[in-house]
Amino acid sequence: MSSPKAMLKNRSHLSHKVRYAVTNPARIAPYLKRHARDTWLRLKHPDHVDYYRAVMASDTARNPEAAVGSRSHDRWLALGKMQFDYLAEHGLAPHHRMLDIGCGNLRAGRLFIDHLDTGNYYGIDISPDILISAKQTLTTFGLQGKLPHLTITQNLTFDFLPDGHFDVVHAHSVFSHSPIEVIDECLAHVGRVLAPDGFFDFTFDRTEGAEHQVLREDFYYRTRTLIALAEKHGLRARFMEDWETRPHGQSKIRVSLPG
Ligand SMILES: C[S@@+](CC[C@H](N)C(=O)[O-])C[C@H]1O[C@@H](n2cnc3c(N)ncnc32)[C@H](O)[C@@H]1O
Repeated sequence: MSSPKAMLKNRSHLSHKVRYAVTNPARIAPYLKRHARDTWLRLKHPDHVDYYRAVMASDTARNPEAAVGSRSHDRWLALGKMQFDYLAEHGLAPHHRMLDIGCGNLRAGRLFIDHLDTGNYYGIDISPDILISAKQTLTTFGLQGKLPHLTITQNLTFDFLPDGHFDVVHAHSVFSHSPIEVIDECLAHVGRVLAPDGFFDFTFDRTEGAEHQVLREDFYYRTRTLIALAEKHGLRARFMEDWETRPHGQSKIRVSLPG
């Protein structure tokens, strides 16, 4: 949960960067390294998905759990459990069919796979490197028998998936790394694959000040921007207040088909 002050912060402003550097001197060298890598990868890959795939290749080579945003193994376990507990509280049942967009190395996916009936979990990701790590997670947790689908994707049109199929579509910490065009594409197509009573939950880095990005890796949006985008595509969208009580920096929106 973020404070109201944090909600107004613009991390792309020079004044914020200078203040941050003065109070966190140990972070200067890693930031400069990240900035140099970002510049190089941005020049090499003008397309965002290609760029972010290269970021994931570099991060995964170092540490797959850190690549999905966990600073320790305990945190990797805790962040997976937080996602699972939330959906279990919201009625996720074994017979449900789930699409996990940006499934990463199954931090939460392993718990969804275990809970759902065989074959009912579908994970997609843009990064082949993290999907290799996802397969390792399946092996580590002995989930081979659940036959989850793990598929690489280049876009979020879901053109290879059937109409009305998924009870739950989920994207955790994916739109926090996505420019608005990627979110728009997802919202334009997700309605087609949702079951009539299904829903799509996604997290995002929320700002109540100016929308901004840090490098091309982290994007901050206003709630009303994302709700309006969903509505533009004929979907209903609401801010999930009960997610705000969890110890997590991002907020959550739920999208469903109009009743
Ligand atoms: C921070 S990780 C989170 C992984 C997983 N959802 C979790 O919570 O453990 C973000 C994941 O989204 C993937 N990703 C980023 N942009 C994507 C996109 N446009 N489509 C599909 N996956 C994407 C990345 O490759 C990465 O595996």
